[in-house]
Amino acid sequence: MVKVLMVCLGNICRSPLAEGILKSKIDTNKIFIDSAGTGGWHIGELPDKRSIDVAKNHHIDLNSQRCRKFTISDFDNFDFIYVMDKSNYKDVISLARNEDDITKVHYILNEINSNEILEVPDPYYEGASGFEIVFQMLDDACEIIADKLNKNE
Ligand code: 4NP
Repeated sequence: MVKVLMVCLGNICRSPLAEGILKSKIDTNKIFIDSAGTGGWHIGELPDKRSIDVAKNHHIDLNSQRCRKFTISDFDNFDFIYVMDKSNYKDVISLARNEDDITKVHYILNEINSNEILEVPDPYYEGASGFEIVFQMLDDACEIIADKLNKNE
């Protein structure tokens, strides 16, 4: 079974959205999707209400998700690790033990544009409109990821 992990800083805003969006585009019996944060401030919590609300507006339910922290064992347990920004990339790569670990880590927006590194902005300190913009970015990227996964499942 292919396993995909979405990673952001807090695991309450961006990566829970990425997890929920990708799950809505694939068969969860065949592909495993999870998310984690590089920071541990919100462990065990639900996603941010603004992420839950924007997902709900798009008929995606995030209420079964709980925040957890990224761990080194995630390199063993996942095939693809998608990060949102350069800071997440640096934090995840700093835990990599070898080249195999490093090659699993990708910028999620590079699925749309591989020419330059683009970042999903952290909407934590923004209003609801920031969450809708993030939703659209992640939806575009997840559409491409889902196409690839569904072809190879
Ligand atoms: P996220 O946003 O990385 O998209 O989940 C954040 C959520 C919480 C915090 C930082 C970023 N925080 O510092 O608590």
